[in-house]
Parts: sequence; C-alpha cells; structure tokens
Amino acid sequence: MNTLSTTGTRATASTPSPGALTTTGTLATPLREAVEDLPLPAIGEPIIEVRNLTKRYGRNIVHQHLNLDIRRGEIVTIVGGSGSGKTTLVRQVLGLERPTSGTIKMFGEDISTIDPERARLMRTRTGMLFQHGALFSSLSVYDNIAQPVRELGEVPADLLRDIVMLKLEMVGLPCKHASKMPAALSGGMVKRVGLARAIVLEPELLILDEPTAGLDPRSSDEVVELISTLHRALGLTVVLITHDLDAMVALSTRVAVIAERKVLVAAPVEEAAGVDDPFIREYFLGMRGRRALQALPPERRAKLPPAALLPASVGVKPC
Ligand SMILES: Nc1ncnc2c1ncn2[C@@H]1O[C@H](COP(=O)(O)OP(=O)(O)O)[C@@H](O)[C@H]1O
Ligand SMILES: [Mg+2]
Repeated sequence: MNTLSTTGTRATASTPSPGALTTTGTLATPLREAVEDLPLPAIGEPIIEVRNLTKRYGRNIVHQHLNLDIRRGEIVTIVGGSGSGKTTLVRQVLGLERPTSGTIKMFGEDISTIDPERARLMRTRTGMLFQHGALFSSLSVYDNIAQPVRELGEVPADLLRDIVMLKLEMVGLPCKHASKMPAALSGGMVKRVGLARAIVLEPELLILDEPTAGLDPRSSDEVVELISTLHRALGLTVVLITHDLDAMVALSTRVAVIAERKVLVAAPVEEAAGVDDPFIREYFLGMRGRRALQALPPERRAKLPPAALLPASVGVKPC
C-alpha cells in the first residue's frame, strides 16, 4: 500500500528523506552516489503473471498463447521486432486493452475480474512512461509531475510541493526547471520529467516503453543510469521495452524475447543470446549485439554462446 509521504514506504533506508534536502532544495548527495553501494532489490514473488494470452485485432493475431512472469525486484527487458506486440502486451497488463483470451494477474489478482475501486488502487501501484513521452504540452513541468497526485484528490499545497520537488531531484533535475513548459526541454529532460511523473505515487512497478528512443547516446546513457538508480533506491520492479542493446545489457535481470506471437525465451541475456532462433541470431549476435554483450562482466560473458564472443568488428553471416 502506498502513502503520499515523501519518504516512501518500502525503502525508508534508501529513499532520501526531506531532511536530506538542503535549504536550496537540492539533494545533499546525488541519489546515484547515495545508492550505489546498496544491494540490488531482492527477487521476490511474481507480480505480473500472464497466462495463455491471445490478442487479435480482426484477423491480425498479435499474441497467441503467450506466457510471462515478472517477479518483484526484477528488471525485465522486453525485446522483439517492430510490430511484434510489445506495446500491446503492456497495454493489456495495464488494463488499457482487453485480451481476446487468457488471464493476466497483477499483484496476485486477475485484472479482468477486479472491481473498479481495486483497479484504481492497482493503477496507483504502477508507474508508466509511454513510448512517445506524452507530457501534457500545456502544463508546466511542475503540473505534469503533480497531475497523478491531484487525480487522487485534495493534497495540501505544501505537501504537494515537497512531493513534486523531491521527485524532480530524484531524476536529477534542479528545481529551477519546475516552471518550464515541455517545449523548452531537451529530449533527455522530457524523459526525466516523464520518469518523475511515473514515480510520483511511489509505485512498486515501473513500466517503460522505449525510454531511450530518439535520444542522443549521452542522454540515453544518462536515462539508463537513472533507471538503474531508481530501481535500487525505490526497490522497484521494472518492465522495460527497448530496442537499445546497451540499455538491455546494462539493466536487465532477464530479457523476454517476443517473436512468433509469444515469449520465445525469458532469461538472463547471456542465456537468451544462445537460443536458436532467427530473430535472436540477428538481434543478439549481429555486430551491435555482440559489442553490447561483450560489455557484460567476465563471469556472465563466460556463459555467452561462442558466436557472441567473435570480435565485434567482424561480420557474421546469419546461418
Ligand atoms: N488499437 C489497435 N487496433 C488495431 N491494431 C493494432 C492496435 N494496436 C496495435 N495494433 C497492431 O498490433 C501489432 C502490434 O503492435 P505494437 O504492440 O504497437 O507493436 P510493438 O510495440 O512491438 O512495435 C501491430 O500489427 C499493430 O498494427
Ligand atoms: Mg511499441
């Protein structure tokens, strides 16, 4: 159960308290440094259980008998070709689309049978960053971040201010940006504000659809770093849709590959890379894939299939 405290209910040891704010409203230590020695969140019970999911649009069968579990504390990356149904899968998990058949449980409850009040509560336990950023262009940064809190009801103005400013700090944006309009922000800043809004209700689960798409490499790296920091600081579970191989390798506890309308494999990246499948060979074992995989720490690199260890500059003919 979440509260609207600024300290968080699950990670009191790791989430900065308002006392960690200096009088100028900036964090005494950047969050990244404050959490880098913390252990990763422990892996716990499944909080998303997708069973035998089929989804069609007319004749277009997007998912067929798809299964996927996501456990508390994980960062699961969902990869797959364009149009393979990644966004459609998370839209069904969020209750924004109805499955044609099959079941989806969130936090242990079947989302097709829960009553509207519990569904509303469930939504406050999940933060979402949609593919196209989707800040309200007519609202300031402050009002964008405050919006999910305001939707819940009356919150005293000074508490709301503390909540918004803390979240802004947590995503590494100085509070002077609070009054800016989205059009005045860079792409990386828009993603940060989107992340601040996604975590404003202190969710347990964060779903991110292509959070680094369209960013330059440096801004992408910063967003990846921020996701990793928030995962540790808030003890989050993260579902991350991405095409970005470096982000996938850097962040995933497991990667779920969607191909042929189902989840082909959901495993640590070094295992998934060894699955015999055309999409996996092309995506993981091409030049860019190998370069990304070879950045794994030595003990995980040792588990890669031999083809992933070929020099990243050598082209490999797909077999
Ligand atoms: N609302 C919709 N109505 C009809 N078809 C849709 C709708 N949303 C998605 N699709 C189709 O479902 C397939 C998967 O789309 P999507 O989940 O967006 O793929 P991805 O996110 O993997 O690129 C595509 O063929 C797309 O055209
Ligand atoms: Mg998509």
